[in-house]
Amino acid sequence: MYVQKILTKTPRGEAWMELLEMISGLFLALFIQVHILAVSNILFGAAAFDQKSHQMDEYFISHIAIFLVCVAILGHGLLAMRKAPWRVQEAQIVWRHSKLLRHDETWYWLVQIITGLAVLILAVIHIAGVLTDWPIQAVKSAARIQSGGFIFYLILIGIAQVHAFLGIYRIFIKWGWWPRKPIFKYLAYTAIAFSTFGVFTLFVFLLFISAGGA
Ligand code: HEM
Repeated sequence: MYVQKILTKTPRGEAWMELLEMISGLFLALFIQVHILAVSNILFGAAAFDQKSHQMDEYFISHIAIFLVCVAILGHGLLAMRKAPWRVQEAQIVWRHSKLLRHDETWYWLVQIITGLAVLILAVIHIAGVLTDWPIQAVKSAARIQSGGFIFYLILIGIAQVHAFLGIYRIFIKWGWWPRKPIFKYLAYTAIAFSTFGVFTLFVFLLFISAGGA
């Protein structure tokens, strides 16, 4: 709002920021789903997980992905937060209008701001934890998940998926690509399916992978 006014002096500048915000958001939403599938490689056992991780290191896939994701998180975070009601007065107005209007889309926007900030903080903690314990190995991942990481990842999966799928829903609505109700339903089902798979993977790490030598 106030920050948005300072940053964008022309409609063309604003349109570019909107486009970059959308592209970085779609990239991150897709990354989270691919990431859940990649981590689920543990279902084939610790050796298969370590082999894939080693291969990705060898061809620098992990390094490139980490770099791109960090740039996307930073860019998307900054671009999206420019529209947030940073001043107390703005926040009060948004809150009053949300209650008054009883308009789902306005509430979704508020949910986006709150979950976006939470994902930013949790993802930074998570990436830092993995990077400072390189290389990625099943024993190390199991140790993290078994020593408190389980709850952390449950929260991260939930919040990241709500943020990703609500973000995609808002893009569909903004561009009028699909009728509201069916697209909300399809996106919600997809989010639930991927999240369930992620939680299942977490249980495998928690219960079946030895943290003290695979
Ligand atoms: C790009 C850098 C990233 C790397 C190298 C990475 C690596 C990993 C690894 C190795 C695990 C297994 C558990 C562990 O070792 O702690 C994991 C799990 C997880 N990561 Fe990441 N991660 C990255 C980014 C992200 C981001 C940006 C998010 C979400 C915003 C995310 C969300 C999760 C979640 C939810 C799990 C649990 C997945 C499941 O149960 O299937 N990660 N990550």
